[in-house]
Amino acid sequence: MTALQPYTIPSQDDRQSVLADKIKRLREERNAIILAHYYTVPEIQQVADVVGDSLALARAAETTDADVIVFAGVYFMGETAKILNPGKTVLMPDNSAGCPLADSCPADRFRSFREQYPDALVISYINSTAEIKAESDIICTSSNAVDIVSQIPADKRIIFGPDRNLGSYVMQQLEREMILWQGFCYVHESYSWDVIETAVRQFPDAQLIAHPECRREVLDHADFVGSTGALLAYSQKSPADAFIVATEPGILYEMKKRSPEKSFIAAPKDIVSSQSVCSQMKQNTMENLCNCLETMAPQIVVDETLAAGALKSIRKMLEMSK
Ligand code: 13P
Ligand code: SF4
Repeated sequence: MTALQPYTIPSQDDRQSVLADKIKRLREERNAIILAHYYTVPEIQQVADVVGDSLALARAAETTDADVIVFAGVYFMGETAKILNPGKTVLMPDNSAGCPLADSCPADRFRSFREQYPDALVISYINSTAEIKAESDIICTSSNAVDIVSQIPADKRIIFGPDRNLGSYVMQQLEREMILWQGFCYVHESYSWDVIETAVRQFPDAQLIAHPECRREVLDHADFVGSTGALLAYSQKSPADAFIVATEPGILYEMKKRSPEKSFIAAPKDIVSSQSVCSQMKQNTMENLCNCLETMAPQIVVDETLAAGALKSIRKMLEMSK
């Protein structure tokens, strides 16, 4: 493997600056708010009104008074924003940017799975389709999953899906069993301790920080485990000078911006290709962001009955994680 290099913030080229100016002008004209996930490209994070983890972005979508919400993320995020705001226009730069984890849990198969445990409460990760949210009692994100499950009486059986790694992390933290749907995120599943250990040897003073969508063999070696927002906050407050970051490398931009004196190394995923990139998040570009504001398309549309079902479990999460 070639030697790993700490992250540096890329410089903005002229074309990106022109697009950024146009996006800002259109945002004013449309009375729009731009929400972006930490995994999007730096240029988008620079132009967004709110950059955050899934919970922070859902909250921003819930509380905004803008007429138009532009969601630079993956489909379930835009869909959640629309469910929270049925009366607003929700745009996505590219509405074909799905989350393979969410798509690995089809509603018909999940329904049959759930029927095997009729007495169980269903807690679903926000990385799921509106159909799954409507089949669920409570939604959670990676930043509140442990807290939400901890509020459920110990004798209540819980079905947790679709991410088995987040589910098993919650089980380990709370020392309680849950029935897990066997889904995973390909970006985080591809990290292994064998390969990350090579980075640890190269940067022996760095702390390993990891997202709970990673497998147990990685989490067991991590100095800190948390959502993207929690990893970012930890990187600022920790006295360590260097971090090996086991989550999608888009987050390194904000980490380096907030702590320019520290070093951030994207955890390698294998010998050949060193970074584990979410190609769906990278479908959001400055070009299609600008284009969606100009044409007011593509808009997210969610069936009303489905949205009403999904809203109950999303609202339950927002109430339980105040
Ligand atoms: P968080 O930003 O909530 O940590 O989620 C990570 C993720 O994979 C989003 O798709
Ligand atoms: Fe889905 Fe994984 Fe990409 Fe997040 S990083 S959007 S969970 S595929």
